[in-house]
Amino acid sequence: MGLKMLLPLLLVKAVLASLPLQVGLLDADVYGPSVPTMMRINQKPEVTRDLKMIPIENYGVKCMSMGFLVDKDAPIVWRGPMVMSALQKMSREVDWGSLDILVVDMPPGTGDAQLTMSQKLQLSGALIVSTPQDVALIDARRGVRMFSKVQVPILGLVENMSCFKCPHCGEPSFIFGMGGARNTAAEMGLQLLGEIPIEVDIRKGCDEGIPIVVSAPDSVISKAYHDVAQNVVMRLEDLAKK
Ligand SMILES: *[C@@H]1O[C@H](CO)[C@@H](O)[C@H](O)[C@H]1NC(C)=O
Repeated sequence: MGLKMLLPLLLVKAVLASLPLQVGLLDADVYGPSVPTMMRINQKPEVTRDLKMIPIENYGVKCMSMGFLVDKDAPIVWRGPMVMSALQKMSREVDWGSLDILVVDMPPGTGDAQLTMSQKLQLSGALIVSTPQDVALIDARRGVRMFSKVQVPILGLVENMSCFKCPHCGEPSFIFGMGGARNTAAEMGLQLLGEIPIEVDIRKGCDEGIPIVVSAPDSVISKAYHDVAQNVVMRLEDLAKK
């Protein structure tokens, strides 16, 4: 939990797909790839004549993940250098075609993989996702510092699991605390690009491989994801102007 950098899970991906943009999703979590399950993809990518892998498209998003290449239940027990070469393969040796946005879903943390990835991929920006909880926000701050070190602009913060609305009485509970990400964003001079409540349907959607923005496009949650996606695109446009 905590900071999954560069993309609140699947969320923005499928949302971005409903904006008129061609979106790619690169699952950079080599040890625990979740894109195959979340995007309901279980075939292996085909290879072009010049030996590039062709991303697999679902819900209008072109996806590439380590999970497409390895057996689902086999543990991935690689050392650092192998991880790096896998990531490089997945960033360079994939035929993305023409994309407007490539979303890189990074595993939580600020280790070697994240650092090298941020340097190698020439990211336009990083989106930091955190829960409102103090310990998670400490991780988020670390993420912000890591990206600054490698000159990747921070797009902003997204608060995930921001509150839980009781399905019976509608009363909101702030399980992980209230306003944590908002305060941290203000403190660090960052924008808060959205707050996503906790919803059983999100978890279900992830496990069943049907993103909530696809199964319930008019829900409050989907709207929250849309807002994040729109804010991200606006931030990217702003940064491009500079
Ligand atoms: C966001 O919260 C949902 C539960 O509502 C969880 O399934 C998901 O993994 C979280 N995403 C991130 C990026 O922390």
